[in-house]
Amino acid sequence: MDYKKLFDQYLLLVNRFVPKPQAGPVIGIDIGTSSIKAVELGQVAGGLEIRHWAIEPLVGTDTKSALKKISDRLHLNSQLLVSSVFGKGTLIRYVDLPRMSLEDLRKAYIFDLDKYFPFDPKSIYTDCAILDPEGKDKKMSVLLAAVKREIVDERLKLFREAGLDLSRVMINSIATANAFSSLGPKVNASGKAKAVLDIGGSTSCIMIFKDFSPRFTRDIFVGSQELTRKIANALAVDALQAESIKRQPGEKLAQVIEACEMPINNLITEIRLSMDYFMTEKNIQVDELFLGGGGSLLKGIEGVFEKNLGMPVKIWNPLVNARLKSPAASGEIQTYAAQFGVALGLGL
Ligand SMILES: Nc1ncnc2c1ncn2[C@@H]1O[C@H](COP(=O)(O)OP(=O)(O)OP(=O)(O)O)[C@@H](O)[C@H]1O
Ligand SMILES: [Mg+2]
Repeated sequence: MDYKKLFDQYLLLVNRFVPKPQAGPVIGIDIGTSSIKAVELGQVAGGLEIRHWAIEPLVGTDTKSALKKISDRLHLNSQLLVSSVFGKGTLIRYVDLPRMSLEDLRKAYIFDLDKYFPFDPKSIYTDCAILDPEGKDKKMSVLLAAVKREIVDERLKLFREAGLDLSRVMINSIATANAFSSLGPKVNASGKAKAVLDIGGSTSCIMIFKDFSPRFTRDIFVGSQELTRKIANALAVDALQAESIKRQPGEKLAQVIEACEMPINNLITEIRLSMDYFMTEKNIQVDELFLGGGGSLLKGIEGVFEKNLGMPVKIWNPLVNARLKSPAASGEIQTYAAQFGVALGLGL
């Protein structure tokens, strides 16, 4: 008797009844300064599906309570949770290094941490990625990321205290890069670079992409809350009223735009510096800017950018290229689409 054949048949039979491990749902949770955004993503034939989503404002409430509300709404228990950190204490470096495997890169660059980051190597968590793994040049483009340990530990603690198990922590801009690469606008390959500006409540982040792969990142500490303050001053109203006027300016639009022009111009100055630096370093011109984040929802903001930056500026809706499961589609997620770039990138 051929026992081997018999055993193989037995294994085949057993395997048919053993449930296959499922790729569990992933939830990206972006904890901003103005609100928490969360999306549950699933893979379906032909693309990505948004199964559930939630947004919780952080005004007048603490982060832990808002996170618990998100957890209740999305029934968080066994899903893989991915969140992010940003701002001071996080750093991304782009460097060219001799081509090697990711495994070798991981072993090699940690000996030079103090060369790449202005932090004590013992005080950070760090990781790296090869941005052109298919490249044939002797040199490869590498992204190195570092985050102060206390920032990640604080994030883990927040989730633990909300009764949640956080699986991964990323940096906001890397999530944005993921989202832009997968769900970015369809643009013609012009050989030129594209830039994305995420305008958050407190912080904005400019990223420059070559062929949808990030090559430059910079945080700018001006956000949409600054616009609210300027509107409050110009129209002599309190912060709450200014926020509501900013969202629905109606016939006050011209006054609102005028009040916001100075902080927007400050942003533009920083962006121009970044683009000039990129041009000098890489010899690639940026020919288009996409705006995302809640700050991009200000009516007419792209016009102000376009006028003062002298290049086409568009609002990036990361939901355009994602499929929505019917209950999610019937919701109002489209209203907040611009704010979901980071959460989507985390889910991806
Ligand atoms: N319809 C709207 N029009 C204008 N501004 C808006 C609108 N909706 C939201 N905003 C502004 O967007 C900002 C919040 O955007 P977002 O959710 O991207 O920020 P965040 O991620 O919480 O902040 P950060 O990234 O700085 O931590 C707020 O300042 C809010 O006033
Ligand atoms: Mg944000």
